[in-house]
Amino acid sequence: MATVLKEPSRTFNEYLLIPGYSGMEARPDNVSLRTPVVKFKKGEESALYMNIPLTSAVMQAVSDDNMAVALAKEGGISFIFGSQPVESQAEMVKRAKSYKAGFVPSDSNLRPDATLQDVLDLKKEKGHSTIAITEDGTADGKLLGIVTSKDYRVSRMDPQTKVKEFMTPFDKMVWGQEGITLSEANDIIWDNKVNQLPIIDKKGRLTSFVFRKDYDSHKENPNELLDENKRYIVGAGINTRDYEERVPALLDAGADILVIDSSEGYSEWQAATIKWIRDKYGDNVKVGAGNVVDADGFRFLADCGADFVKIGIGGGSICITREQKGIGRGQASAVIDVAKARDEYFKETGVYIPICSDGGIVYDYHMTLALAMGADFIMLGRYFARFDESPSAKLMVNGNYVKEYWGEGSARARNWQRYDLGGDSKLKFEEGVDSYVPYAGSLHDNVQMSLGKVKSTMCNCGALSIPDFQKNAKLTLVSAVSIVEGGAHDVILKEVSPGTGQR
Ligand code: IMP
Repeated sequence: MATVLKEPSRTFNEYLLIPGYSGMEARPDNVSLRTPVVKFKKGEESALYMNIPLTSAVMQAVSDDNMAVALAKEGGISFIFGSQPVESQAEMVKRAKSYKAGFVPSDSNLRPDATLQDVLDLKKEKGHSTIAITEDGTADGKLLGIVTSKDYRVSRMDPQTKVKEFMTPFDKMVWGQEGITLSEANDIIWDNKVNQLPIIDKKGRLTSFVFRKDYDSHKENPNELLDENKRYIVGAGINTRDYEERVPALLDAGADILVIDSSEGYSEWQAATIKWIRDKYGDNVKVGAGNVVDADGFRFLADCGADFVKIGIGGGSICITREQKGIGRGQASAVIDVAKARDEYFKETGVYIPICSDGGIVYDYHMTLALAMGADFIMLGRYFARFDESPSAKLMVNGNYVKEYWGEGSARARNWQRYDLGGDSKLKFEEGVDSYVPYAGSLHDNVQMSLGKVKSTMCNCGALSIPDFQKNAKLTLVSAVSIVEGGAHDVILKEVSPGTGQR
């Protein structure tokens, strides 16, 4: 007969934390959210830590190079989506690794024989008024001039006027040589009273711009996550099909850590993928595996050599796996079960394998619960998709700004490998939906706010670090009636309260 678990499958919403004793030192400023990402032996350090326990989901609508830079600045890691050709994913990793704060690749470029009309069209499309004029019209072509709104007067000029007739030509421009520091670039901007400084290489090709308006935003972030060469730490998703091609390309591009992105990870395909990586690179290449939802799944991936294990099936906001296939588990039950297995494994073997709770975070306090239940870090899709830095389009729908957010198992993403255990590569049915999420502004502001709440709750529980919190947190199940009691009730609310989204 089939095994039937006695405990129901529970979600984060069904739990609350019970405060513990907090001494005077329990202040948010004193809380450290530093957390290990890859496995380590008892008494040793992990080879990779994050300064905040957040990673962004391996999804087209969430994690590209832009997100990777924004999240690494805060101290977390993005896993750049793998549902794209190897070359374009490697290119994204390369861009994130070569990002230098303040040096922005030029996104508006034209050739000298373009027209004023082309300038106006490009300005409308990109929203930027600085246009580089390069020999071949690319972002890294030989720089011939620059056009800003000071160079033309729409009311007096024929829209067919050629750019070369009104651009500021190279010999009248101020520029910087590749290799100068950001502070040297800013000095040139201030000394010459210009708004932007093109940076060129020895052959006169454009490499980037430094903008005056960005001056204030380059203050160092104390949490930023850097490698030994001061480049941002970047992750990337791989699959169990084309790893022999994808993994070397991602490593060449500079990826610091990989994760096998699969909706169901308790499989021989994952074992084979990890084995191939270990045979070729030994332990130097770090790779997470998943997703699993119970102790058996964890143990299997641990024995296969995974550097971390990701938990969650069916809990993602865009996920319809449970409806379509009837597999999955409430995210809270899954995390609690796997955390127990992780601790037992540690006791038995002396090897600590970090676990990541993936999907299903709706409220900020769910992050806190996931950590209390034993997760070392968390992966989020919907949360990050709402921010300026996500790759998806921002739209106005019914008078509100929204961003697009679609599942990797949706027809839109067509990430066939992820939803296929192997064999035939056709997407036979969808496991995810295409949706909108409310636009929420900048990643920095939101992450600061969410983690402010996490730290505050940890203080209420008397915990100043994640390991301490995992060890000492007290959790209680809530009844359906007490969930009603938890929100504002029996009052007539005047307005939506900021930060909660609740009426
Ligand atoms: P969210 O943070 O609740 O939006 O969940 C994000 C997580 O959902 C991802 O990290 C994936 O594990 C999972 N996921 C992404 N796309 C799909 C899908 O199409 N179907 C099911 N799960 C998905």
